[in-house]
Amino acid sequence: MPRVIVVGSGIAGLTTALDAASGHDVVLVTKSALGQSNTRYAQGGIAGVMSAEDSVDAHIADTLAAGAGLCDEEAVRVLCTEGPDRIRELITFGVEFDRTDGEFARGREAAHSYPRVLHAGGDATGARIEAALVARIRESSAEILEDTFFVDLLLEDGHVAGALLRLADGAERRISADAVVLATGGAGQLYPYTTNPAVATGDGAAAALRAGALLADLEFYQFHPTALTTADRFLVSEAVRGEGAVLRNSIGERFLAEIHPDAELAPRDVVARGIAAEMAAQGGIPVVLDATMLGESFLAERFPVIDRAVRASGIDWSQEYVPVSPAAHYWMGGVVTDLDGRTTVPGLYAVGEVARTGVHGANRLASNSLLEGAVFGARVARALGTDDQAGWPARPARPFADPMRNPATDAPPFSRGALQQLMWDAAGLLRDGQGLRRAARVLDAWSALPLPTDNIRSLEDRNLLALSRELVLAALFRTASVGAHARSDFPNSHSPLPASAGAEPREVVPAC
Ligand code: SIN
Repeated sequence: MPRVIVVGSGIAGLTTALDAASGHDVVLVTKSALGQSNTRYAQGGIAGVMSAEDSVDAHIADTLAAGAGLCDEEAVRVLCTEGPDRIRELITFGVEFDRTDGEFARGREAAHSYPRVLHAGGDATGARIEAALVARIRESSAEILEDTFFVDLLLEDGHVAGALLRLADGAERRISADAVVLATGGAGQLYPYTTNPAVATGDGAAAALRAGALLADLEFYQFHPTALTTADRFLVSEAVRGEGAVLRNSIGERFLAEIHPDAELAPRDVVARGIAAEMAAQGGIPVVLDATMLGESFLAERFPVIDRAVRASGIDWSQEYVPVSPAAHYWMGGVVTDLDGRTTVPGLYAVGEVARTGVHGANRLASNSLLEGAVFGARVARALGTDDQAGWPARPARPFADPMRNPATDAPPFSRGALQQLMWDAAGLLRDGQGLRRAARVLDAWSALPLPTDNIRSLEDRNLLALSRELVLAALFRTASVGAHARSDFPNSHSPLPASAGAEPREVVPAC
């Protein structure tokens, strides 16, 4: 049987591995314990058209609008059309989505024209899905390697030939394979404040980059507006605002209605930037989420996970306001794929947050990410072993040429914390050319340092450094403000660039 290595164990990796296991020798590699992934922390739910009053066309329209004109329409159509069947499949796997009077309870989140977000266990949707998929994969024929770090891809004559892994005991293992599927999730650890777990260091995207795969849309990083201001930046779901909670500034006033007609349910990038601007105007004091109108029992029943976290931080949110601020949440860009997850490197597939399928454009619609993992995971499993190049008649070019490296001579000493702060300051919610150029030069200086390769932390740092540089260059190249990418020096929302997959080289980023 052909062998497939699936790297990552969120909804995308587990769906791919499960579906592929019947016809392939599947090796599932996961960096931590099985079940530890971004999926596990997803609260709001999974978006999908599961009622007669809603329509797939409306879901498509909302997704395209959130993506600010830069989605691939065909990919969005696939996502929204195939999504309901994947949700029904999750139900057969044992995921019990919450119901009211027998009907699915449907939450509302930002930029959805209809309440279509299904949830399970209140705000434990990702954890319930993850648990159901983990139970099934444990019963399957897949070999599972936990606590195993994916170091790199192995290539032979330009084709993926396997993976180099570092096992829990520190030993290296090379596994040959006919295909490798990257399902490694995002890279929230690029920033000091993130809703992502510590494992989200972009290992798959960085390995794809080293292997010569095309990455795109890296400038589009979504910041969730409402994370607790505690050290772990615990997510307070948009669904809380969907139920009626509001944001207030330091003098107790609502401020978002002045920025957007949908106020607290405006697109996520608008709310996040609105909060950042309000915080800046108030000398950095966080804004607060007022959920007091929802009442103690409703908060505990509808949002049990958040309720525990908020109360653990010493706040009775049925009586008190909750300090919140934006945090890095989701990377819209990633490894460019066709509609079946094929990347530009033969034998290499990508699925879930690591992939750039084109469904998110410049800004992801809330709760479309679990859906993407389920829909495209199934498609990748079906496509494995078919003509690797079918989706790529010609190898698309990177949209910008890499400028000569121009290392800063006064770069501060490298540390992960310094890198994260640099990214927050220069490539966070608001960017400008001067800050981005400086960041690129500092990253160039750090990239020239010899990082050790004998420990996982340093291998992760290598990945974060490489991806930071790509993100910063992409942000420099896009001289416009669109979706999650806001340039204070180019506030005009007109984007001169199409979605970057397949774009011809147009312009060289000026030497930084
Ligand atoms: C949330 O629950 O607010 C996050 C959902 C998502 O990121 O799609």
